[in-house]
Amino acid sequence: MYQSIEIASRSISKPAAIVCFFFDDKALRPADKALDKASKGALAAALKRAEVNGTAGESHHVDVGKMRYLLVGLGEAKKLDGRVLRQVGAATVRALDRIGAVTAGLQLTGLFSEALPPERAAQALAEGIGLASFDFHDFKATTKKEGKVKSLRIAADDSSLTAALRKGLALADSTNYARRLAATPPNVATTTYVAAQAQKLARASKGRIKCRVIKGAALEREKLVGLINVGKASENPPCLIELTYTPRGSRKTVLLVGKTICYDTGGLSLKINNGMKGMKYDKNGGMAVLGAMHAIAHAIKPSCKVVALLPAAENSISDEAYRPDDIITYLNGVSVEVTNTDAEGRLVLADALAWGCRKIKPDAIIDLATLTGGVVVALGSACAGLFCNDDTLRGRIECAAEAAGDRVWRLPLWEDYREMMKSKHADIWNSAPVRHAHPIQGAAFLSYFVDEKTPWAHIDIAGTSNIDSDQSPFVAGPTGFGVRLLASVLENWE
Ligand code: BES
Ligand code: ZN
Ligand code: ZN
Repeated sequence: MYQSIEIASRSISKPAAIVCFFFDDKALRPADKALDKASKGALAAALKRAEVNGTAGESHHVDVGKMRYLLVGLGEAKKLDGRVLRQVGAATVRALDRIGAVTAGLQLTGLFSEALPPERAAQALAEGIGLASFDFHDFKATTKKEGKVKSLRIAADDSSLTAALRKGLALADSTNYARRLAATPPNVATTTYVAAQAQKLARASKGRIKCRVIKGAALEREKLVGLINVGKASENPPCLIELTYTPRGSRKTVLLVGKTICYDTGGLSLKINNGMKGMKYDKNGGMAVLGAMHAIAHAIKPSCKVVALLPAAENSISDEAYRPDDIITYLNGVSVEVTNTDAEGRLVLADALAWGCRKIKPDAIIDLATLTGGVVVALGSACAGLFCNDDTLRGRIECAAEAAGDRVWRLPLWEDYREMMKSKHADIWNSAPVRHAHPIQGAAFLSYFVDEKTPWAHIDIAGTSNIDSDQSPFVAGPTGFGVRLLASVLENWE
């Protein structure tokens, strides 16, 4: 697969392939008629072939003399939306890779309808192209030896879409950045490593983003007790990573929080059977937030101030580990009885939320976390669970989620659930003795650390941030869920 993809500003004179799209009516689109004429009817003839159906993402190549055409199906015209276009983009780049093309011309004129603005459509197509070109071979000996970079240059026949294509590719790049960090194993991607990556991101932003890491004695001074306790048993020390983007003249501040558990063994409430495998992905909330900051550095220019907080720790075991029965008192005065050391994510998020409310005084908070196995049982990998105390914020998130293809579904957060979290010997416990409503218990717990009047959304991404089987444009593994969702929310924040 290509390591580098670029959108050319002008048309490429003799591209290795010309990509023509067609719907399931198998009709030649008006824009392609001239090409068909030049190819002596070869395109129209190819569309008539029995094995050509026009389902979204199917591809066929047709060689006419020295020219190679790639026919890519779009499915049903009235079903064409961002999700389909991402899949079509993915199929296109995979087909181009298969035929070894280094340059391609995309025939986009007249492809998009009123219902689907051309810029949004072109962006989605390019997102699919970029997302499908993700691979993670950093640890394979064979790729290290290969050395040479495979690259692709793309031009569209409609140059007014160049900016939209570039933006789609840049957002896919930020998503792939998050996916690469997510895939990095826990013996490499430690808390210190993640902090160093955040600092590197800030340096690369040319001053647009500042980074600060609170660790060691400073954690005690700042009363970040969740991080201290969860991180106690690991040789990799806990820290709170803060990234700040301040545009000129900004008035509103959005706080992003991402659960960054670099590895979750469950702690003394150790994960059993094969439950631990894959827990390198327990940092994915934080990686999605980092990806969104990467997008600010490279792809979007929000007009609001954005602060990102990544509470980073490794939930491990040792004689120094925190235990079930411990009681921890937080910065905002709320005391928590630990009933299960495997419900560690909420303990570190509580620090970031309470500290963030006090120090940053945000106008809105969005947290992303691989918080519960329960959300995977409830919603699978089709969408993330959304909890929100504010209708306007919920509307913004739902809208951005639909646009980005990072789907969310609302779950309730009534007082009844907050009641479930009340403990006998402390104010609340981190997990109720009954297994009812697990994803909601997590959200209800977090609500005790957010100022009541602050609009806040919690997105449980345990089912969506990594997947077991291919779901185009994604392959099995990390999806970077949340990066483009957050980018879209921030971009539209006035
Ligand atoms: N990191 C897990 C949640 C998780 C589970 C993510 C499976 C992805 C796949 C979290 O820290 C956890 O262990 N949650 C427990 C909570 C319980 C102990 C209250 C869970 O969901 O079982
Ligand atoms: Zn856990
Ligand atoms: Zn966890």
